[in-house]
Amino acid sequence: MAKKSKIVGKIKIIHDRDGCIGCGACAVLCEKYWRMADDGKADLIGGKKAGKHYERIVEKMECNQEAADGCPVAVIHIKKA
Ligand code: F3S
Repeated sequence: MAKKSKIVGKIKIIHDRDGCIGCGACAVLCEKYWRMADDGKADLIGGKKAGKHYERIVEKMECNQEAADGCPVAVIHIKKA
């Protein structure tokens, strides 16, 4: 069972896209926020480029914790916004 986030308030989802190996778990576990791109890596839907990462601020965690937990190379990070 996925652990519940203790973050209160807005949440920043961060994707270290360079490190993504295209496993696809995020897109299966959380299709509202993650989809596979033509280059074989995942895209954080609605994410904006911020330096080397993509990030998006959301009001609710929804399935993003499952996506982060399911990523085998841990390139999805969740922080307080
Ligand atoms: Fe990439 Fe991890 Fe998703 S490797 S495709 S971000 S599960």
